[in-house]
Amino acid sequence: MPFNQDHHRILLLVLFVVALILIQDLPFYPSSSTPSAIEFDHFLMGTPRPPFDNLIQRLASLHNYDQTHQKSPVIVSVDIPSGWHVEEGDISGEGIKPDMLVSLTAPKFCAKKFRGPHHFLDGRFVPSTIVDKYKLCLPLYPGTSMCVRIGKPPQVDISALRENYISPAFLEEQVEADPFNQFHKWVDDAVAAGLREPNSMALSTAGKDGNRESSRMVLLKGVDKDGLVWNTNYESKKAHQLSENARASILFYWDGLNRQVRVEGSVEKVSEEESEHYFHSRPRGSQIGAMVSEQSSVVPGREALDRKYQELEDQFSDGSLIPKPKHWGAYRLKPELFEFWQGQPSRLHDRLQYSLVEVDGGRLWKIDRLAP
Ligand SMILES: Cc1cc2nc3c(=O)[nH]c(=O)nc-3n(C[C@H](O)[C@H](O)[C@H](O)COP(=O)(O)O)c2cc1C
Repeated sequence: MPFNQDHHRILLLVLFVVALILIQDLPFYPSSSTPSAIEFDHFLMGTPRPPFDNLIQRLASLHNYDQTHQKSPVIVSVDIPSGWHVEEGDISGEGIKPDMLVSLTAPKFCAKKFRGPHHFLDGRFVPSTIVDKYKLCLPLYPGTSMCVRIGKPPQVDISALRENYISPAFLEEQVEADPFNQFHKWVDDAVAAGLREPNSMALSTAGKDGNRESSRMVLLKGVDKDGLVWNTNYESKKAHQLSENARASILFYWDGLNRQVRVEGSVEKVSEEESEHYFHSRPRGSQIGAMVSEQSSVVPGREALDRKYQELEDQFSDGSLIPKPKHWGAYRLKPELFEFWQGQPSRLHDRLQYSLVEVDGGRLWKIDRLAP
């Protein structure tokens, strides 16, 4: 079947969709700067015809932007940028000047003239002779993992990374008297906002005498009036620290809502029955994983873990109950302090702290505003 204009358009469309997925998944790509234009190997012989002439002109003129301006358009070229000569590059000076070039198969000669900061090689079709000659370490097909960076990544000025938070006011008169209710409200908001793993939290513990502090992420698995629950290994580093010093600090950060919650208090193991319940609510793969892993201990290599996993998977392939290992269980932090933080412009953030105070022999939650 002859390849006509319609086929060409369909191909461009398909490539566009593939490239959007590909580019947004690339590990280097800052999420704040989604590419505003992607164009495909559309180098020209002769004068460009409509509608490409107009499009190319507009893309070429986009280049005159301030590199430091975050919202500037980003142009990605998949293979030879439009208007370039396949060997000489942008000889007319009217071609597109991409910020990122994805060279297909292998870089064409014109790629030498590419001056943008990001050059990737789509390694799918790179011949083995080239791979050997240049000692390329190409990731495996499929998907975006088939791209490798060529050259050094651009230097990131970490001190220049900043965000101005814009959120509704978060005032004393709006909050719940009980911090657990306030916490539930914010968790619900995080879920409704579609945030990924809104139950992930940084858990900080310390050893005896409050030293040897360490933090790690864990998943919140339950909240009730008694506290916040997570699952883990009772022989891990955090468990050893908790056995010496049964206190911890938990931190949630919900990017996208400009919110952070800090919770501090004492920690205890939950009952064996409760841990059993959590264990059997996990997918079978995770149950086996928990049996395999002597969390926080040194392992000889990845293969040792895979081998042990495979053995246990075979052992339980009949679907029989996987017993909860003794070393696996949950902890509960009983809060003594909550702090709800909501980002505001000019760093004048809202911080409302709930602390427990004794009143007439009872304990009440007192709310204070803290300076940002
Ligand atoms: C998002 C996320 C969630 C995690 N959830 C848990 C968890 O629920 N329980 C757990 O033991 N480890 C979890 N981990 C792994 C821990 O961060 C940590 O590597 C592990 O618990 C060992 O920590 P330790 O050596 O300080 O005891 C999670 C990691 C990430 C990134």
